[in-house]
Amino acid sequence: MAAEPVNLNEFQELARLALPKMYYDFYAGGAEDEHTLKENVEAFHRITFRPRILVDVSRIDLSTTILDYKISAPIIIAPTAFHKLANPEGEVATARAAASCNTIMVLSFTSSSTIEEVAASSNAVRFYQLYVFKKRDITATLVQRAERNGFKALVLTADTPRLGRREADIKNKMITPPLKNLEGLLSTKVSSDTGSNFEADANETMDASLSWKDLEWLRSITNLPILIKGILTREDAIKAVEVGVAGIIVSNHGARQLDYSPATISALEEVVHAVKGRVPILMDGGVRRGTDVFKALALGAQAVLIGRPVVYGLAAKGENGVRRVIEMLKDEFELTMALTGCPSVKHITRNHVRTEQERIH
Ligand code: FNR
Repeated sequence: MAAEPVNLNEFQELARLALPKMYYDFYAGGAEDEHTLKENVEAFHRITFRPRILVDVSRIDLSTTILDYKISAPIIIAPTAFHKLANPEGEVATARAAASCNTIMVLSFTSSSTIEEVAASSNAVRFYQLYVFKKRDITATLVQRAERNGFKALVLTADTPRLGRREADIKNKMITPPLKNLEGLLSTKVSSDTGSNFEADANETMDASLSWKDLEWLRSITNLPILIKGILTREDAIKAVEVGVAGIIVSNHGARQLDYSPATISALEEVVHAVKGRVPILMDGGVRRGTDVFKALALGAQAVLIGRPVVYGLAAKGENGVRRVIEMLKDEFELTMALTGCPSVKHITRNHVRTEQERIH
């Protein structure tokens, strides 16, 4: 038996051993040259600390509040597709782990458990991630189902007018399972060029005409707060605030969409400066260590989301694996707070980190 993992990267290796190659590649892969995939992680490595000493850190409070929901630490579960490819219990197991860690789960639009199953499985605070389909009424129905089932916010993923080119899925002729929430509403197509259904299905269904004015439509069909996921520039951050979003998620979709997008931790501050505290900013992409969580908060994020590590935990050890991933990250984050002299998340400031540019000048 493999040794017990001591960090999130070791969960990745366990997941690799546990999963069929096609599924592991689907989870682990990124777009094209996977430049941004590497950068998401490596850009964190280039940020160092300015730790403060002789601060009383005998008690550390990791908790924080996101949209009025108090959670145990600023670490949230990102929406990722098809959890049943990792474990037969799928998103239900992930939701239970989120509840026991007292954090928020964002359920993917492309989930393999239904909205209702996930809602019934735990009392976790849940947000629902949306893609907007050409057939708007399908999206509207799902919004209503999420609202009826107690989801607390919508996360509109706005970086996917078309699917990024993920070459591992093309090589593996990856066939995705049916979208559980959409059973009977959509048909699936296997592309004769690629042997995979994923790209063809997504490009057929996704509404590439979606634009800022459609936020008005979305607001007209729901009372839930709307966060936008996929912002990487000051221009779009300002637009998002203008249209009245409840929050922004700085994200490059785990480097699965536009390769050579900036690492999200490098794009974060530009967005933070543009938003000037008007709405909360979250970020995801490449968070693998408690030190990464700290760096994101120091640069202005209120919380981070984690994508692949959750799926790796699920593949390696089911619900318990997801719990272990979150708890491990929390423990590392707590230690980082102690060693930088920050007894609570409010004590984490811009002065606690130094970016690469600051080292050069
Ligand atoms: C994703 N992501 C994603 N995002 C989204 O809005 N809807 C989705 O259905 C999915 N599906 C998905 C599947 C898989 C396998 C991955 C790896 C990612 C992106 C996800 O929400 C998040 O932005 C990234 O995963 C964050 O980067 P890390 O933590 O994986 O490095």
